[in-house]
Amino acid sequence: MPAEKEPVGVIGVGWVGLVTAACFAELGHEIVARDILPEKVESLSRGEVPIYEPGLPELVEKNRERITFTTDMAEVLDRTRLLFCCVDTPPTYSGDADLSRVETVVDEIGDSTEHAIVMKSTVPVGTGRSINRRRPGIGYASNPEFLKEGSAVADFMKPDRVVIGAEQSSAAFAERVAALYEPLDGPIVHTDVASAEMVKLASNAFLATKISFINEIANVCEQVGADVTEVARGMGLDERIGPQFLRAGIGWGGSCFPKDTLALKQLAGNSGYHFQLLSAVIEVNELQKRRVVSKLQKHLGSLVGKEIALLGIAFKPNTDDIREATSLVLAARLHGEGANVRAYDPVASAHAAEHLPGTTICDSAMEAVAGADGVVIVTEWPEFRELDWSAVKDSLSTPLVVDGRNFLDRDAVAAAGLTYEGVGRS
Ligand code: UGA
Repeated sequence: MPAEKEPVGVIGVGWVGLVTAACFAELGHEIVARDILPEKVESLSRGEVPIYEPGLPELVEKNRERITFTTDMAEVLDRTRLLFCCVDTPPTYSGDADLSRVETVVDEIGDSTEHAIVMKSTVPVGTGRSINRRRPGIGYASNPEFLKEGSAVADFMKPDRVVIGAEQSSAAFAERVAALYEPLDGPIVHTDVASAEMVKLASNAFLATKISFINEIANVCEQVGADVTEVARGMGLDERIGPQFLRAGIGWGGSCFPKDTLALKQLAGNSGYHFQLLSAVIEVNELQKRRVVSKLQKHLGSLVGKEIALLGIAFKPNTDDIREATSLVLAARLHGEGANVRAYDPVASAHAAEHLPGTTICDSAMEAVAGADGVVIVTEWPEFRELDWSAVKDSLSTPLVVDGRNFLDRDAVAAAGLTYEGVGRS
């Protein structure tokens, strides 16, 4: 008879927690998933998934028998021993991570010597060591997540790597955590706790650096008459560079890169080191968002009273997440220049209104462009590529498209009679 699979506790059923719960359930584990919000627990218990993540509702539904959603920490402690901490660690005013929710979880576990925390929440380097010191009885492993929104289920099931950081005293727990991932066939990297915590921050910071780098190359391309998409293709074929994360655009956003780059910069600063490169990476990203406004002004002159249509609100396609989305900054800047802004997103429109004060939220792309003086592609949703650009041209007051993601078929747009302005494309 096959060995019984270890039950898994999940604390915090946000995006990371729910993906973790559903995927471990799919691997055959009993899951007890706890969130403090009763309404969330009730709707999840009914099989309703509150976030947009492809494949996740199906996985939750398929494994409903194996997952218990609860608000009761005692039930998690009673039924499981390995507790995946997936609560959020939002940035504070200073840019440091707010660890209050993590601390609450640690307090709730108390001095139990039977339980181990597996930290999936992104925390500053040193957090695990400090928890270990204060609660020597609790086993502790750092197990950062590398999931991308929009492909999180696939990323979990086919990981590039699984990083597990533990001190000698928790080595047995680390092995138990590693055993959970064995069926997934990804390389398992064992480190100490601080190094695992750093892998997470450094990975996101590196990816953000790669994007800011190509965005600056794009800006130089505009000056000298080169095309960044060609440059990126030529660079990416060098195996040492690789083709991924070389898509120039109007800046990175989301719930991770902005938060984690700032957290790493703060962490370095707090330890007495000025992380110059990362400061520039963050600044370049802010400036990149502003360049859209300049591009509109280049063609339209003053934006006072102009109607601008933003296509895409989510920070990237395949998600309804608008946290730190470029659309938010852009809309505010356009308002500041006196423009009227309308926006449309295939999935994020529904909850966008409260975050986009003064912006008209439209029900379709064609509604957003009707009578507008310019269109900005903010998020590369596939449906925007399929638009009938002749119809868009007829509908616009001024036939101008700023393609913030170099996503459209430039020739087709130009053939339809529109002025096309990309990023880093002469
Ligand atoms: C990112 C990392 O990619 C994940 O590995 C990590 O687990 C996750 O953060 C996290 O820390 O939880 P995510 O924020 O979901 O994942 O999104 P990405 O696909 O990485 O995109 C981030 C931003 O970069 C988006 O705004 C996207 O539009 C932008 N981007 C990405 C570019 O501008 N150019 C590119 O070439 C790639």
